Amino acid sequence: MNRIVIFASGSGSNAENIIQFFQNSEQIEVTHVLSNNPNAGVFDRCERLDIPASLFEKSSFKDDDTVLNFLLAEADYIVLAGFLWKIPAAIVEAFPNKIVNIHPALLPKFGGKGMYGMNVHKAVKTSGAKETGITIHYVNEHYDEGAIIFQASTAVTESDTPESIAQKVHELEYEHFPRVLESLILKNG
Ligand code: GAR
Repeated sequence: MNRIVIFASGSGSNAENIIQFFQNSEQIEVTHVLSNNPNAGVFDRCERLDIPASLFEKSSFKDDDTVLNFLLAEADYIVLAGFLWKIPAAIVEAFPNKIVNIHPALLPKFGGKGMYGMNVHKAVKTSGAKETGITIHYVNEHYDEGAIIFQASTAVTESDTPESIAQKVHELEYEHFPRVLESLILKNG
């Protein structure tokens, strides 16, 4: 079994979609969800889906090895599904090409620090861009700069609002993220 641990800071709709996608898989399973945010909606989803979920403190992530040691024991792959913090170098080094993030725009555009969730969609709208999309990429120590695995795009029209852009992007995420994870994990054997 390839074990996935998901990190999520917010609502967790992508986490739920990934958990459900792999629920009947014989090769891949989501074993745990970790969050930095005690109010994250992902906790309710995990309770409903019967998936263990844990809150962690910044210090156990950045300053000591608590989260790293948990991951070394529990994870073959780490998936960031709406996770807000930068991954510390020690975790990146321990999981080379095993940490995958989804970004709600077409990187390298609209990436970097602070570019999270609705901030991204507002920036896309303000820029007048004619398209946006999703980028699934490996994680390195820099925000949104790891090698790109997959991108898909969607049109942005004049009548789109940041909210309608978010909805279009979420649809692309739900359609592609679990399938891209499945194919890269199975390719690695
Ligand atoms: C998703 O759109 C994801 O791409 C984005 O946060 C949203 C989380 O939604 N991630 C980032 O912005 C990372 N920079 P969800 O909690 O409903 O899955």
